[in-house]
Amino acid sequence: MKHKMARVITIDGLASSGKTSISKKLSEKLGYYFLDSGILYRSVAYICLTESLEHSTDLLITNLENNLEVISDQTKHYKINYKGNDIADHLYNEEIGVLASIVSQKPEIREYLMKLQHNCVKLPGLVANGRDMGSKVFPHADFKLFITAELAVRASRRFKQLVDSGKEASLEKITSQLTERDKNDKNRKISPLIAPAGSIEIDSSHLNVDRILDKILELYKI
Ligand code: DC
Repeated sequence: MKHKMARVITIDGLASSGKTSISKKLSEKLGYYFLDSGILYRSVAYICLTESLEHSTDLLITNLENNLEVISDQTKHYKINYKGNDIADHLYNEEIGVLASIVSQKPEIREYLMKLQHNCVKLPGLVANGRDMGSKVFPHADFKLFITAELAVRASRRFKQLVDSGKEASLEKITSQLTERDKNDKNRKISPLIAPAGSIEIDSSHLNVDRILDKILELYKI
């Protein structure tokens, strides 16, 4: 008897390139699970900060092994629990984004998170987004996308997101934080952000999410 294999779609790209909105909608359309791998790195950054564990990677990993869980909710979206609590509300600010980009340079952290990401593959499939989904974590994915967008467009999207959610924001500060993160993510020694071999590149600067989604669904034939 032939076993059905779970499909994997990877969507990589820079911060605020639109990859998360695209991935979420695509996973919902296909009925697949959805993993935004950025939340793993953001969670590690948050835990590192709140538990003051930035000086010992060993202690940090032991803490993660004991307290961090990746679980899917009824919408098939993966989320993170730390000590039994959903920490999503603490993860989406630029300070945590920049710190995530720094902790993500540690090979031990990437290795530990690799296992957790592999465990997210379930039938009928998974849409996973991040920086190294198609290049490192799921090199044999069924379909790989690489999303780009101009820096000014990404900064103004992020600015709007923050303002819409009632937070204070400065376009200038966001632009410099994104520039710093781009530099870290593209130039780090392990798993730098690259267009994965075999990926299809989409520039989202002047396209809305629905147009991009139509384009992707045309290309992705099961
Ligand atoms: O996608 P994001 O902006 O939420 O990611 C936050 C940081 O986490 C990003 O700047 C680098 C790191 N990251 C990573 O190194 N590898 C991934 N697959 C996802 C995120």
